[in-house]
Amino acid sequence: NNLFTFDPGFTSTASCESKITYIDGEKGQLLHRGYSIEELASNSDYLEVCYLLWHGELPTQAQKDAFVSTIKNHTMVHEQLQFFYRGFRRDAHPMAVMCGVVGALSAFYHDSTDIKNPQHREITAMRLIAKMPTIAAMCYKYAVGQPFMYPRNDLTYSENFLHMMFGTPCEESKISPVAARAMDRIFILHADHEQNASTSTVRLAGSSGANPFACIAAGISALWGPAHGGANEAVLNMLDEIGDVSNIDTYIAKAKDKNDPFKLMGFGHRVYKNYDPRASVMRESCHEVLKELGVKDAKLELAMKLEEIALSDPYFVEKKLFPNVDFYSGIILSALGIPTSMFTVIFALSRTVGWISHWNEMIANPYKIGRPRQLYTGETERSFVPVDNRK
Ligand code: CMC
Repeated sequence: NNLFTFDPGFTSTASCESKITYIDGEKGQLLHRGYSIEELASNSDYLEVCYLLWHGELPTQAQKDAFVSTIKNHTMVHEQLQFFYRGFRRDAHPMAVMCGVVGALSAFYHDSTDIKNPQHREITAMRLIAKMPTIAAMCYKYAVGQPFMYPRNDLTYSENFLHMMFGTPCEESKISPVAARAMDRIFILHADHEQNASTSTVRLAGSSGANPFACIAAGISALWGPAHGGANEAVLNMLDEIGDVSNIDTYIAKAKDKNDPFKLMGFGHRVYKNYDPRASVMRESCHEVLKELGVKDAKLELAMKLEEIALSDPYFVEKKLFPNVDFYSGIILSALGIPTSMFTVIFALSRTVGWISHWNEMIANPYKIGRPRQLYTGETERSFVPVDNRK
């Protein structure tokens, strides 16, 4: 047993080498292929960031046009896929539907299963990036009982997602540029985050040579939990539960109480021990969006007050618990009219490019099947007892 390093939760074990994303948790720095998240969020757009994550460089205009056109070629899903949705209860959580439907894509694309072929890997990535908004919006449409909307390739990636969410066959949705830009920024801010739980899951599943669509479904499952991507939904539920500024102190006391399982959702991070740089951009974006859309949101006021009180409390200061990306994203999403149950689905949509880029990086380089060891703490060897002699 002593032959192994014991590192529960992998707090100090690097599982791979990667050239994709760099995080300095002490400085609060996040770089994709060397470019800061702040610069990307203000100057780029989601599909350009996808190109960057996948190819390693920012595209020239011609490369960008070709990439966007390829993505647009793949936005529709197979007509048969809608029957998978119809097998679910209408009140199923959209993340449950998402896990099932994305896993089901592995049954549709046999040509993409030769993972040793770089062209097959690329088409898989393009299909995933292109189809995730369609699949996500279909989860919503199914839940509310409206017809599925086909993608519109004359729109940008984020406009098209809003169109498929809020348009109906009898009325096109009015997509405000502010809403589309806010959506795009949310996609960018969630695009990748190195070896988090879901990305590590995708790599681990992929290391056995499994079908990439099935690996992404595994990543979606890992993302769902409230300690990971499910936190954005949990933040809104928590703000609803707190209800009023006057109750904040009670909830802060609960969060500090070791005997109470309650945690402040949207606070804390395994790697960032300084402000989460994505949260700074998201916070700014949140104010802009609410102002430009003319939304007065009592939840934002509550969130701001909660942040202020927590950040002046020695418990949160000493433990370096700052708001993370999920603290503000939910407020923006609800201002855009997106229901809480869809928040983690949108995270999954955005993170797909990160997952598939990491999967590709692993497959394209020498790798071993992921096989962690354990410290065995069970019984030592003993003799089998026939059932009649057992007490
Ligand atoms: N509220 C109150 N106390 C907290 C919180 C919180 N949100 N987060 C951590 N702590 C305490 C924790 O109880 C522990 O205390 P002690 O040292 O006395 O045992 C200490 O701070 C260290 O926390 P930890 O749980 O050991 O840290 P971790 O690195 O294992 O967990 C985390 C990180 C993000 C899972 C955790 O901070 C958490 O559960 N936060 C709330 C959920 C959340 O917002 N998750 C989104 C993460 S960012 C988006 C993403 O990547 O998905």
